[in-house]
Amino acid sequence: MNNDTVYYDAAISDDLRRKRLFEGQLFVYSPRPTTLAFVEFARSMIEEAFAGRDPRTAQDAMDVQQYAAVLGKLKPAFIHHPESKRHLQAILEEFGCDLGRTYFDVPRMRSSTSGDYLTTGIAFAWHAHRDTWFSAPPCQVNWWMPIYDIESENAMAFHPRYWTRPVNNSSGGYNYYKWNKLHRGANVAKMTKEDNRPMPRATEPMDLDPQVRLICPAGGIILFSAAQMHSSVPNTSGVTRFSIDFRTVDLDDAKARRGAPNVDSSSTGTVMRDFIRGSDLSRVPDDVVALYDDETTAEGDLVYTPQGA
Ligand SMILES: [Fe+2]
Repeated sequence: MNNDTVYYDAAISDDLRRKRLFEGQLFVYSPRPTTLAFVEFARSMIEEAFAGRDPRTAQDAMDVQQYAAVLGKLKPAFIHHPESKRHLQAILEEFGCDLGRTYFDVPRMRSSTSGDYLTTGIAFAWHAHRDTWFSAPPCQVNWWMPIYDIESENAMAFHPRYWTRPVNNSSGGYNYYKWNKLHRGANVAKMTKEDNRPMPRATEPMDLDPQVRLICPAGGIILFSAAQMHSSVPNTSGVTRFSIDFRTVDLDDAKARRGAPNVDSSSTGTVMRDFIRGSDLSRVPDDVVALYDDETTAEGDLVYTPQGA
């Protein structure tokens, strides 16, 4: 089947939706009560952090180090806030996911400043990548939601031709455990000029056009497979974009090793231990994690133990 479809507000089961996602299709949903509640919560944290400044234009009035320091406090506070997990549970339930089988990771808050103000560290501008280059399992589903309205000039982009087309890339040098050991906890808020973290990336020129940018209102949500090639659009909109993303894995998919085809990823280690179950926040069972692990786990102290699990 070709990856040629964007489903809009599709009223289908989560099982069928994941099947379509693993075929490379995209889903976009209008704002719903649970997503709007999460956006409202995120906005209150952002607006408090910027102390009365409009967060979308605060970059114009702030020194970049000072700005990065604000994000450096705000983002971890959001990620680890207990309310964030409750919002995710509510969203997954509203979207028809079985919470007894659906595992999620902590939601990340992202920002994309306009122009060249800040594109490294705490506000990293993502080059084209697949999450599977970063040790995501083929059954992972990504959820992405704007916190304020977006436009084409500050959106994210998909590069659908790469669903079936392999790209030479450096994912073979990426091991999730080593990455955590070396870079987790690094003070990314201080990386305002350069960002030397060795992220997997294409090692050959790519054709990023034609590309697809899905524009939904704040609280709308976009679903895509972890194998989908995507990037941050260079922000030329004049305002900062704030968004939330999180990832899910269905236990039945994980057990059956269902998911998107792997065309070019050779990362090692797995992010499977980061996921917690929707119903009770328990971790993915060890025997299931083992299906995705490799000999790099033998370096036992490198295995990351997630917070809140
Ligand atoms: Fe990504």
